[in-house]
Amino acid sequence: MTLTATHGTTTPVGEVPVIEADGLIKHYPVRRGLLGGQALVRALDGVSFRLAAGRTLAVVGESGCGKSTLARSVTLIEPPTAGTLTFAGTSYDAADRRRHRALRQSVQMVFQDPYGSLNPRKTVGSILGEPLVINTRLNRVERRDRTQAMMARVGLRPDQIDRYPHMFSGGQRQRIAIARALMLNPKLVVADEPVSALDVSIQAQVLNLMMDLQDEFRLAYLLISHDLSVVRLIADDIIVMYLGRPVEQGAARAIFETPRHPYTKTLLAATPRIDPADRTERLAPKGELPSPLAPPPGCHFHRRCPFATDRCSAEVPRLRPLDGGPLDEHQVACHHAEGLSPTP
Ligand SMILES: Nc1ncnc2c1ncn2[C@@H]1O[C@H](COP(=O)(O)OP(=O)(O)O)[C@@H](O)[C@H]1O
Ligand SMILES: [Mg+2]
Repeated sequence: MTLTATHGTTTPVGEVPVIEADGLIKHYPVRRGLLGGQALVRALDGVSFRLAAGRTLAVVGESGCGKSTLARSVTLIEPPTAGTLTFAGTSYDAADRRRHRALRQSVQMVFQDPYGSLNPRKTVGSILGEPLVINTRLNRVERRDRTQAMMARVGLRPDQIDRYPHMFSGGQRQRIAIARALMLNPKLVVADEPVSALDVSIQAQVLNLMMDLQDEFRLAYLLISHDLSVVRLIADDIIVMYLGRPVEQGAARAIFETPRHPYTKTLLAATPRIDPADRTERLAPKGELPSPLAPPPGCHFHRRCPFATDRCSAEVPRLRPLDGGPLDEHQVACHHAEGLSPTP
């Protein structure tokens, strides 16, 4: 995949993050079997991060690791069970409904499926215009103007404003979904697998568009993706999740060039590489993802890890900076991180 936009912004020192998450937890109560004891799915088990304007934080991990749960928590579609969310310096308060509404505007979401997320019975004009009806005082003509300007901005033909979603291609539909997310000038866009349903050639176009829009509007992106080749292109920072917990976190460059957690290495090994000579020390993923209803004790990954010791099954490894390095640069949750070679 080739991209025209280059990426990389630095966090201005002292700037208030667009969003700060501290110790996010989301538990789902579920019934167990026919006799129905209650059990808890620990879908999200202690995730913290800061995300500044103009930056992209990617969340990676196998299916079932809690990525979408994190997305839903951050957008308050499903508020977290515990932990705090702070938007532009203001803490989220479940009781404060007015503030809640302002928050909803500044945080928007783009979903994986551009078919399911757009109402098939509405025209593009009414899909994009709807947020303006509810949240602005623009009249009909002004709304139509604003909608057509946004269509042009995301690479759609403004004269197609009266068409229905099914009259567009998959890539175009995802452009509509992105346009809808931007109608109210959000600060944060949470995108859950935004290009996974698209052909690879179309993926690059949509990612390029997202990066252009990010630069233009200084958007912060929380990008959920299981595809590390996508993440490599657009992430500034990365959280690697495993069974609801962050196992490695930090600058994208650090994660890709000097991964330290055995799980991260497994993920990287499963990603196709450009250079076939560069296939040293690859780990094959061992076994299945354990049930999140009964995660292994200690390090969740220990049963699949070739380096596990007794300590790993007994003691939960905390996420910590490596070798006493800076907190934001590179953190890992592995008892043996220092003993493992920092190669992908
Ligand atoms: N509403 C729910 N009720 C019960 N369990 C759920 C619910 N939503 C997600 N889960 C469980 O939480 C875990 C994480 O799911 P999810 O966040 O969708 O992972 P991912 O997006 O990484 O594939 C999975 O085990 C999933 O089955
Ligand atoms: Mg998901």
